[in-house]
Amino acid sequence: MPDKVVIFDTTLRDGEQTPGASLNVDEKLQIARQLELLNVDVIEAGFPFSSKGDFEAVKAVAREIRGTQVAALCRANFKDIDAAWEAVKEATAPRIHTFISTSDIHLKYQLKKTREEVLEQAVAAVSHAAKYCANVEFSAMDAGRSDLDYVVKVFTAVIDAGATTVNFPDTVGYTIPHEFGAKIKYLVENIPNIHKAVISVHCHNDLGLAVANTLAAIVNGARQAECTINGIGERAGNASLEEIVMALATRKDLFDYYTEIVTQYIYPASRLVSKLTGVLVQPNKAIVGANAFAHESGIHQDGVLKEASTYEIMTPTAVGIKKSSLPLGKLSGRHAFQKKLQEMGFYLNEDELNRVFVRFKDLADRKKTVFDEDLTSLVETEVIYKSVPEHFKLLELVVLSGNTVKPSANVKMEIGGVVQGPYSTFGDGPIDATYRAITHLAESKCTLLKFAVSSITGGTDALGEVSVRLEEDGHVVTGQGVDPDVVTASARAFVNGLNRLHFLKEGGPRKGKPEEL
Ligand code: KIV
Ligand code: ZN
Repeated sequence: MPDKVVIFDTTLRDGEQTPGASLNVDEKLQIARQLELLNVDVIEAGFPFSSKGDFEAVKAVAREIRGTQVAALCRANFKDIDAAWEAVKEATAPRIHTFISTSDIHLKYQLKKTREEVLEQAVAAVSHAAKYCANVEFSAMDAGRSDLDYVVKVFTAVIDAGATTVNFPDTVGYTIPHEFGAKIKYLVENIPNIHKAVISVHCHNDLGLAVANTLAAIVNGARQAECTINGIGERAGNASLEEIVMALATRKDLFDYYTEIVTQYIYPASRLVSKLTGVLVQPNKAIVGANAFAHESGIHQDGVLKEASTYEIMTPTAVGIKKSSLPLGKLSGRHAFQKKLQEMGFYLNEDELNRVFVRFKDLADRKKTVFDEDLTSLVETEVIYKSVPEHFKLLELVVLSGNTVKPSANVKMEIGGVVQGPYSTFGDGPIDATYRAITHLAESKCTLLKFAVSSITGGTDALGEVSVRLEEDGHVVTGQGVDPDVVTASARAFVNGLNRLHFLKEGGPRKGKPEEL
């Protein structure tokens, strides 16, 4: 039978110590409700003595949350402990969490106390807390850098004084997994009354090892993991709840432990915490980052479409993400591309698909991400309006513009199968110069009725979409052009319009209004 690992969530306390992430009472309550849905075992709601607001927040969480233990943090002194109890006492399962440093470096420079004095204070604090509540956690701050025999001594004494959980924090994220695991093993083997308490760990991420250290501790006897949603917390943050939980769930072959977390609530919890704290989740963050289930390379996309487990070690739905995404970029393959178009309602034949795919690859080479709107434009230009013969083709366009030159354009076209140009001319701006050159080469008498340019997607690498309306001999047509370069998009739109005019003048098969082309 696997052992349970208690999940102690400290998003509302250590997580709130993230610079700029402070939460008001209402926001703490919203997150606490989400943590209850997630089914964490303990919610550390705050540090009541630290501020009136935190006192109120812990009180509100303790009153409302019924299905989860609620803990309040306090230093190892009576005033702090009294405030913690006052705030948390209405919880269905309250916990007092008291702490004092045990490392020589903290004792010397911060507390200015001897080891004996700290031991005495720890025991007095736990005894005081135990008078209020049977559920007392003691933390030896900076335990990771403390003399291990001294921690053994302190833990033995506080367990005798009533501590039911003893927490071994790597406060400064200094330890390395095999070393941290060995320390936990040492505690298990050397604390005579350890069977009366749960060993907890609380790892910070200064070396990026918080989750690895936590897992190493579990393997060596820790049965409570302190963690936060999205790994937020003091400095580089805490061990991330979602990573610990999913590592245990995904590698059951290695870890004979379980948690009672309802993993489908992980992603909603991550979004909520990010929204309310204002701490953004990095895209490549494990489990909850925007790219955690996004497959970019063509080989990976092909594999995932055939069988998700080829490149996914857990399903996105297991953590509350609807489905994997196959963002289209320059590495995407035809398979993913076709699937994407079909999802958008475009069922192209083989030849059409090939043509659009070539244009897509060309675009993806120039643009980081190709959005749905970009694809729609490509299909429209390559397929939907493709039935109009290309009497006019833009072969080359070179534009000179800037704040110290008169704008000019040099254009070469193919018209009715014959290369025309290059022809250069000036204009009021680069687009005006381009249109003058095209008009000259095409010998067109059309009038430009409307010119509109918009960016299809955001960002400076957005596709520019140009739409024009042209009139000649009673025929009115529209023309569209799309390109990351807005002058090229303008030229394409104009040439597209000229082709439609030509098509109509040649008695094109359409009987409807020209605008409907
Ligand atoms: O990092 C730490 O040591 C803490 C304690 C208060 C548990 O946050
Ligand atoms: Zn901490």
